[in-house]
Amino acid sequence: MWSLLVCALLAISYCYAEKIIIVGAGAAGIATAARLLEHNVTDFRILEAEGRIGGRIHSLQIGDAYVDIGAQYVHGQKGNTVYELSKAYLKKGKDFDKALLYYGSTMKTGNTLLDEFISLAEETTYTNVNVSIGEAFSSRYNATCLKKYKDDLKMLTYSHDFLRTIECIILTVDGAFSWNKISSMSNFKFQSGENFLQWDGLGYKTILDLLLKNYPQKTGYNIDNQLSLEKTVTRIILKNNSVKLKCKDGSEYSSDHVVFTPSLGVLKHEHKNLFMPRLERPKVDAIEDLGFDGVIKVILEFATPWWGKHDDFFLVWNEEKRNNLAKDIPFGPTKDGDHWLSWFYLVGTSPKNSKALVGWILGPMVPEVEKLSEDQMKTGVMYALKTFLGKDFDITEPTKVIHSKWYMNPNIRGAYSYETLISKKHDPSAQEALAEPITAKDGVPRILFAGEATSSHRFATVDGAIETGYREADRLLKILKVK
Ligand SMILES: Cc1cc2nc3c(=O)[nH]c(=O)nc-3n(C[C@H](O)[C@H](O)[C@H](O)COP(=O)(O)OP(=O)(O)OC[C@H]3O[C@@H](n4cnc5c(N)ncnc54)[C@H](O)[C@@H]3O)c2cc1C
Ligand SMILES: *[C@@H]1O[C@H](CO)[C@@H](O)[C@H](O)[C@H]1NC(C)=O
Ligand SMILES: *[C@@H]1O[C@H](CO)[C@@H](O)[C@H](O)[C@H]1NC(C)=O
Ligand SMILES: *[C@@H]1O[C@H](CO)[C@@H](O)[C@H](O)[C@H]1NC(C)=O
Ligand SMILES: *[C@@H]1O[C@H](CO)[C@@H](O)[C@H](O)[C@H]1NC(C)=O
Repeated sequence: MWSLLVCALLAISYCYAEKIIIVGAGAAGIATAARLLEHNVTDFRILEAEGRIGGRIHSLQIGDAYVDIGAQYVHGQKGNTVYELSKAYLKKGKDFDKALLYYGSTMKTGNTLLDEFISLAEETTYTNVNVSIGEAFSSRYNATCLKKYKDDLKMLTYSHDFLRTIECIILTVDGAFSWNKISSMSNFKFQSGENFLQWDGLGYKTILDLLLKNYPQKTGYNIDNQLSLEKTVTRIILKNNSVKLKCKDGSEYSSDHVVFTPSLGVLKHEHKNLFMPRLERPKVDAIEDLGFDGVIKVILEFATPWWGKHDDFFLVWNEEKRNNLAKDIPFGPTKDGDHWLSWFYLVGTSPKNSKALVGWILGPMVPEVEKLSEDQMKTGVMYALKTFLGKDFDITEPTKVIHSKWYMNPNIRGAYSYETLISKKHDPSAQEALAEPITAKDGVPRILFAGEATSSHRFATVDGAIETGYREADRLLKILKVK
């Protein structure tokens, strides 16, 4: 009894010493570890709050294959780190041109408005004008569509309802709650090649094995002894020539260097408590100025698939369908006269998986919608699918409906970072301010920052996150003078 207690006390008070501590085992943390291992640096430890590695990469086995409730697509080919590692396991990109588009219960063929709006969106994003995407798009819409269809009430109404769909597409890309928050200027760099490549049934989690050279054979790096799961770091204390870390479970670590990789959402919420001394400007400004909101993915599993050869369905809500929502789905949040379900706009198949569909819900109610029970979510999305597609398809009952909860997860607190009107004030960029290491009294960089949001040109992506992990590992290798 006493010896147990003494052991427990010893375990709590013992301070583990490491050369390098990596906080977070998402894409950035695993990439940091992989690069260190490549250079035979093994004296590091990864502290990960969750009981699994991957962070915002989370592949779930549904039916015959893996389905991603987090990152899903590989965006681009040329110069894309993920593409280089994984091209043998990817499937040709999604072809959204082949999607079926339903306006109310009517299938629209030709998707003319979609094409028209996509080209408007292309004109109003990545501009040099300091306005939000929402404002830029709306004013172009007013100047073009509104004029063009002013004597055609049917088209005018349709294009007005379609505005919501285009906003949803933009929110899917940027992860914001409103397109009025996203800057129309952006440093994001597109890469040539396909922009929506998908894992052919293996799930995005395979990238973690590929980084550690453990796929297709498990003959690469074994990090089991360097990885501590369910270790939430609560305090990072900068000393004269080292860093001390405290964890939620009472354990303490001391290290020469820390690589901090948790999301911008975690930083926004915790930076004042996490860092001792507190972070300074311009890093704090960058944390506050960059955007980090949320999106919801809904995975539906069916015993009998009903969608035939079709891959994707856009659901464009009309006034009648919106008006029925309060009566037919009398639960869940509403905001500014909008019902939460009217932000459910796209559902599509997942590669190699004959049984699963993946849907998207966006907009300002995401935090509240996440809190719905699985039964409520199922009732809502099945109502939407039946009311839009029920005339043309024999929709079967799902065997399982699960939705993502990234925003309420204290280890993520949202989706992916985006550039706001204010973040564009930073020179050279808010992401670079975020990436700047913290140097101790001895002049040595001690706390380093990696993660998706610290990438100036590929933020919000997995390849961007990996590049930042490599960047900080390289910085360490230089400090440690490892060749
Ligand atoms: C729904 C969704 C869809 C997406 N789709 C795509 C896509 O199609 N293509 C694409 O390229 N990207 C996509 N992304 C973005 C992509 O997932 C991220 O950019 C990338 O995975 C981020 O990796 P990271 O290592 O920077 O951060 P994370 O993955 O967030 O890793 C940080 C890790 O730190 C841990 N952590 C947090 N706090 C602590 C703490 N206090 N102590 C210890 N550990 C902690 C977290 O648990 C996490 O594991 C998507 C993201 C989401 C949410
Ligand atoms: C790492 O160690 C291995 C085996 O000792 C050696 O072959 C390799 O060259 C080393 N790599 C580097 C980058 O030093
Ligand atoms: C577009 O027109 C509508 C009314 O027709 C107006 O309310 C809105 O402010 C206009 N938007 C922009 C950005 O000009
Ligand atoms: C840290 O550095 C300061 C001055 O640079 C010095 O006064 C202090 O004693 C140092 N603390 C330790 C623990 O070395
Ligand atoms: C853009 O406009 C916002 C106000 O809407 C302002 O705060 C910001 O400084 C401007 N950004 C640039 C780069 O001028």
